[in-house]
Amino acid sequence: MDIGIVIVAAGRGERAGSAEGPKQYRRIGGSAVIAHTLKAFLDWSKAGPIVVVIHPDDKLLFEEAVSGLATERVSTVTGGATRQQSVLAGLQAVAALDATHVMIHDGARPFVDRALLDRISARLEAGDDAVLPALPVTDTLKRGTEGRVIETVSREGLYAAQTPQSFRLATILEAHRRAAAESRSDFTDDCSIAEWAGVPVAIVEGSPDNVKLTVRRDITMADERLSAAALPD
Ligand code: CTP
Ligand code: MG
Repeated sequence: MDIGIVIVAAGRGERAGSAEGPKQYRRIGGSAVIAHTLKAFLDWSKAGPIVVVIHPDDKLLFEEAVSGLATERVSTVTGGATRQQSVLAGLQAVAALDATHVMIHDGARPFVDRALLDRISARLEAGDDAVLPALPVTDTLKRGTEGRVIETVSREGLYAAQTPQSFRLATILEAHRRAAAESRSDFTDDCSIAEWAGVPVAIVEGSPDNVKLTVRRDITMADERLSAAALPD
């Protein structure tokens, strides 16, 4: 089994405040967010070729961000206007390399760990075509509108989806191509495209640390967490 990696990092990070530049190039613990993300996969022994999907304006930012890393196995490709388009560009690039399977990961999730990658790859090895890392929802859920609660929603059987969502490469590439051909552009993750295409999706336990940096505060907190970890006891 050869596992290619697609890291999508072509977004603009509007919710994190774009004045400081796209969030994947902001520094946490002394390195760019994308450098942490990339390093997690470079350090994982089962990772095959790695494709990072970047915005055409970010070529220099990317080079600068990963300059300290051993990037022989890493190539870049230009992303699109939506995450879905960026993923498809990455899948097409990884399909031209040596890969039978693929992990699709958000560049904005720098805390992905090897134990999680091992849990996912074990399911791919066992023959699952689609694997979703997810955590059961623990908060009480409310449906509301205009600042008022309508009802409490049962959290029974509800999961919060993470990445890397992982697949047999031919399966997800075909599903993504079909979605694009049918102008279905409303998918927010890759497993939902697999579900739409009728592919069964296995769930593995996600990692509580594997958060997506979305708003400015997430980046500040990530930086504080890494800085605290670096201090001697
Ligand atoms: N992404 C991408 N191409 C896009 C949009 C998003 O590669 N056209 C990537 C982002 O770089 C990020 C991941 O998809 O690593 C998850 O998306 P999100 O957290 O929404 O990031 P942004 O789209 O950059 O942020 P925002 O939605 O706040 O603008
Ligand atoms: Mg977005």
